Amino acid sequence: MLKNDQLDQWDRDNFFHPSTHLAQHARGESPNRVIKTASGVHIEDRDGTKLLDAFAGLYCVNVGYGRQEIAEAIADQARELAYYHSYVGHGTEASITLSKMILDRAPANMSKVYFGLGGSDANETNVKLIWYYNNILGRPEKKKIISRWRGYHGSGLVTGSLTGLELFHKKFDLPLAQVVHTDAPYYFRREDQNQTEEQFVAHCVAELEALIEREGADTIAAFIGEPVLGTGGIVPPPAGYWEAIQAVLKKHDILLVVDEVVTGFGRLGTMFGSDHYGLEADIITIAKGLTSAYAPLSGSIVSDKVWKVLEQGTDENGPIGHGWTYSAHPIGAAAGVANLKLIDELNLVENAGSVGAYLNQSMKDALGDHAHVGDIRGEGMLCAVEFVKDRDSRTFFDAADKIGPQISAKLLEQDRVIARAMPQGDILGFAPPFCLTREEADTVVAATARAVKAVLG
Ligand SMILES: Cc1ncc(COP(=O)(O)O)c(C=O)c1O
Repeated sequence: MLKNDQLDQWDRDNFFHPSTHLAQHARGESPNRVIKTASGVHIEDRDGTKLLDAFAGLYCVNVGYGRQEIAEAIADQARELAYYHSYVGHGTEASITLSKMILDRAPANMSKVYFGLGGSDANETNVKLIWYYNNILGRPEKKKIISRWRGYHGSGLVTGSLTGLELFHKKFDLPLAQVVHTDAPYYFRREDQNQTEEQFVAHCVAELEALIEREGADTIAAFIGEPVLGTGGIVPPPAGYWEAIQAVLKKHDILLVVDEVVTGFGRLGTMFGSDHYGLEADIITIAKGLTSAYAPLSGSIVSDKVWKVLEQGTDENGPIGHGWTYSAHPIGAAAGVANLKLIDELNLVENAGSVGAYLNQSMKDALGDHAHVGDIRGEGMLCAVEFVKDRDSRTFFDAADKIGPQISAKLLEQDRVIARAMPQGDILGFAPPFCLTREEADTVVAATARAVKAVLG
């Protein structure tokens, strides 16, 4: 195909990009990269530049790019039946099969899956289901949702409120009143440097207890959290955190929503993050890795306990007033079925665990002693490097210095490796596809060390 030399201008004139500095982009001051094709862990732009994508898109292309099995499944589904709705008991072979495959893999107390399109709408569904649940149980006051600072749960109205990052609230009149935030389990950024990990967990628990006390347990419906904080900085929880938090929630009859949009289907080296941390969810959010982003699809996996009340609700009130035109879209479902099969066939969950551990260790070996590296952390195929101005006093750089973005830009420029400058703090995030090899992990680590040296010496 002849190259369209107007594409750059068309982009700036017509395309409203998400999470983008709109003015700079429209004026042509920020790069616009047009991605053309991809294979394995590499993407290629239309100028033929090949990049190693160590963030799997937005930590979603878990099986890697260019999987023909999934492309064929999508094409076959489109030819046979591109669409039919799933209202009033309708289904397709793909959507029914996928719900069974998900439940076969999910923790034992899970009962049904409701399908949406992305992580944000799935969490929106979860909040509605929780409100409905407490209305059916005759507890109309029990509605608030507790989320964590630095949690990421989407960017809609209620989900943007759940998200605990300033950028997603500022000037949008968020968070909404029904959402309250508690501390992030971010040991490296603890206020009291002298706290042990155990003491810090006790501090997080005390903060949560105090919040519940202030608000009143009878006003709080649920707590939502990612097993490992993702967009907030890729932060695995300190040992014992989830066990202690779950005990508090149980005591106050507060539901637990485990947001597994990033961790679901293998990223931590286990099928779910809930398996990894012994989480007993009432609802699990899934998206991204469900189809490895070959088609938009998300889900809310509902536990037996919640499901029973939903059934009671429809017996009392008639059909549930919730659904999207594209819920359980057959093309997304076909992609999901092919994707989950591929994950099993290629043993990708295990690979995410073993190569992920190798990546994390190699990153520590390469950068652990650097004067401006404060923390290197990760779990499974997630890794983060956090930069500090001074290691001993643990002081941070000024946000205006943009150290994280500078390093990620240098990494791209020097070695064509994509890592993500996480939005809050100078944190470089890695979340490669699960098919990453050890050699590719070596490339990522060596390139990162070069980029850090170029920016920070
Ligand atoms: C944990 C988590 N939940 C929800 C979302 C929102 O998903 P989406 O962007 O598909 O709406 C994301 C997106 O990154 C996420 O990381």
